[in-house]
Amino acid sequence: MTPVRAIYPGTFDPLTNGHLDLIARGSKIVDHLVVAILRNVNKGTPLFTVEERLEMIREAAEAFPNVSVQTFDGLLVDFAREQGAVAVLRGIRAISDYEYEFQMAMMNRKLDPELETIFMLPHEKYTYVSSRLIKGVFQLGGDVSSLVPGLVMDRLRAKV
Ligand code: PNS
Repeated sequence: MTPVRAIYPGTFDPLTNGHLDLIARGSKIVDHLVVAILRNVNKGTPLFTVEERLEMIREAAEAFPNVSVQTFDGLLVDFAREQGAVAVLRGIRAISDYEYEFQMAMMNRKLDPELETIFMLPHEKYTYVSSRLIKGVFQLGGDVSSLVPGLVMDRLRAKV
């Protein structure tokens, strides 16, 4: 049987324990998981460069032999096709995520009806964790050390 390959896309600015939890869960249900960092974000200036994020995720995901990390530009469906992926993995933390995720999944289905979207739930202890909140709280002096991998924490300290 052909190995099942999936893409876990995002901006990951920075990687959180919630993302890592999803990588762990996703890596258990597919043969190979490609974590894909979007290069051309429209969300304002990122805190970490794409290269820094790539390094951090590679290091954090070292423990998972069937996970690789790459970057992409343009449409996710095109990248997924290039990669030979059959599915996109996304995390849903709460109902509030659902609408955005539903729209993206439906648009991706419209663009490529063959590509499936798999939604997984991160551990409930990370339900409220987002990269945006991590950056905001850390920049104001809050302790986020239990919410991001240690190597991300070190980079945050060095950056801010
Ligand atoms: O971490 P994010 O910001 O929630 O990730 C969003 C991402 C990268 C998954 C999404 O913006 C994306 O896939 N962008 C690529 C452009 C694309 O394919 N757009 C059409 C699908 S809506």
